[in-house]
Amino acid sequence: MAEKKEVVETSEAQIAVHWGEEAYYEPSAEFIAQANMTDSGIYERFSLDNFPNCFKEYADLLDWYEYWDTILDTSDAPCWKWFVGGKVNASYNCVDRHLAKHKNKTAIHFVPELEEEKTEHVTFQELYVRVNEMAALLQDFCGLKAGDRVTLHLPMTPDLPVTMLACARLGVIHSQVFGGFSGKSCADRIVDSGSNVLITADSYYRGGKLIDHKEKADTAVAEAKKAGQTVDKVLVWQRYPGKNSTPTPMVEGLDYFTNDVLKNYYGKIVEPVRMPAEAPLFLMYTSGTTGKPKGCQHGTGGYLAYVTGTSKFVQDIHPEDVYWCMADIGWITGHSYIVYGPLALAASTVIYEGIPTYPDAGRCWRIAQDLDVNIFHTAPTAIRALRKVGPDEPAKYNYKFKHMTTVGEPIEPEVWKWYYNVVGRGEAAIVDTWWQTETGGFLCSTIPALKAMKPGSAGPGMPGIHPVIYDDEGKELPAGAGKAGNICIRNPWPGGFQTIWGDRDRFVSTYYERYCRDKNSKNWEDWPYLTGDAAVEAEDGYFRILGRIDDVINVSGHRLGTKELESAALVVQEVAEAAVVPVKHDIKGIEPDLYVALKPGIEGSDEIAAKISKAIVDEIGAIARPRKVWIVPDMPKTRSGKIMRRVLGAISNKGDVGDTMTLANPEVVEEITKMVQN
Ligand code: WTA
Repeated sequence: MAEKKEVVETSEAQIAVHWGEEAYYEPSAEFIAQANMTDSGIYERFSLDNFPNCFKEYADLLDWYEYWDTILDTSDAPCWKWFVGGKVNASYNCVDRHLAKHKNKTAIHFVPELEEEKTEHVTFQELYVRVNEMAALLQDFCGLKAGDRVTLHLPMTPDLPVTMLACARLGVIHSQVFGGFSGKSCADRIVDSGSNVLITADSYYRGGKLIDHKEKADTAVAEAKKAGQTVDKVLVWQRYPGKNSTPTPMVEGLDYFTNDVLKNYYGKIVEPVRMPAEAPLFLMYTSGTTGKPKGCQHGTGGYLAYVTGTSKFVQDIHPEDVYWCMADIGWITGHSYIVYGPLALAASTVIYEGIPTYPDAGRCWRIAQDLDVNIFHTAPTAIRALRKVGPDEPAKYNYKFKHMTTVGEPIEPEVWKWYYNVVGRGEAAIVDTWWQTETGGFLCSTIPALKAMKPGSAGPGMPGIHPVIYDDEGKELPAGAGKAGNICIRNPWPGGFQTIWGDRDRFVSTYYERYCRDKNSKNWEDWPYLTGDAAVEAEDGYFRILGRIDDVINVSGHRLGTKELESAALVVQEVAEAAVVPVKHDIKGIEPDLYVALKPGIEGSDEIAAKISKAIVDEIGAIARPRKVWIVPDMPKTRSGKIMRRVLGAISNKGDVGDTMTLANPEVVEEITKMVQN
């Protein structure tokens, strides 16, 4: 048994609201009649007795150049390999294979943020042409080949999936960095992945403003260079091809407008490279306990099979559906459930450039009406915001959703009910999907035609996913115990990430060490996967997720490491110490509160607070901006000098600070409480 990890003093799970069990809602007969998965035998077929062979059903949703011979190879436990011996290409499966039947069908509806700009409809044929030309450019102009990494820092336009699919066509590993991240964050990811090529954009619209994005590329290249990684080509997609939309100049010999270079590749066709199933498809960086983001490495065959299967059975995607997931492609939700899953099923997927409430609270519902969207997918933060600014807006528009998803954070039953009654008009089936960057696809969710919905609960484990809840001592809580504990998954599944890029030890220690039964074992049963979330399982086998148990916080559904924020604050030279705690927030779910103590002799001021806030935005991005920077005279500390985040967390959340008499400086607690709670 691995040694016990240091306990996090203030975690999301501790400040979570533990709402009770709600009544069931049944899917409509109309939904069930058309659903992809209505066979309740699926749970039996995917029981542990039938593991791992059950996942053949997912693999068979793909077209293989060579069929695999070993379904699950555990020889390098816990780096699982799926569908070994198989050869496959993700770009072929998302594009080429649909041409025969669907070439004139829309693959991507692109909705620019400005309402006066026309929606662009990219057919599968056109997607095929664009992906091929881009692949030719990457191969020929950039010299990229299978196994190379390339960093993408792109906003929400079709250029992003075109670039991803062009990489996938060549077996080049893409690493897309969320467009809202800073140039510095992008640089860290360029360095870690060892990318020589950066693909970015000049600008994009957000909140009605044309944002200069190119400046971030300059920072990224300069910072990467300082850290020893040279970028020798920067490709810049233009928001308006042929027109300059950024004040940041191009760098001679380094920067190239993608749309200009593409002219040399018009009409070029690139054969998809037949990739081994276990070859990496992409990296997706995510936050963890330490300051350094982890590059989650996802494989080709297993990942694609899993997102295709879950898109079909949980998202209920049929080729004739118009599917809109409002996430950003820069996060895992966008990779799996805007790009790879829906396109593998030949759906029409919607990409919206901007914010859901621009220019007004009716925008989402107008888009749904105009494109006849029938499957809608978003996060509780967006649902809360839309409910707050326009609770009656959905009723004004003429759209009909058959299916809706909530993902990324726990959803309050009240918010769920508004989503169900007002957005879905009591007709749409809802799935609350719980999963992570690491897991590639869903872990817990109802299968919409097979299981009733329960507000506030994600539902049972997915077919073939077998969750278990352990207590801190490593004892298994009995199924349906109704007690909170650490939720783990007993078995591997094809969508799971393969490792952390370049850091297998961290992969093993972060996710497997805690509950591993035998480190030398090659048997998957000895390696439960630690998700890092707390959860409660009700008697009916539905799981309610309470939040993170580690130093990760989920702000508006964006995952941030408290250590990342703290080290960003420490970049400001006046700062001596920094501590971040999660605070409950009505719309965002969780917000970070930042406490800092300044170096001796330095007076706190609004200017310093603003400087610290700005440092966080520069180092990470605007999503990490703290609710408030509290400059305190001293941090509450134990006698051994450890910062008591638990006390700060209680103050920020107006909770009980508990016994403070054992602290080295109990008097600061009252002082800080007055300042924060005034
Ligand atoms: C949280 C996003 C409650 C959870 C797909 C997880 C959720 C983290 C849900 C992963 C849900 C995700 N209900 N909490 N339905 N879905 N989470 O990596 O804490 O950005 O560990 O992946 O979000 O965030 P990530």
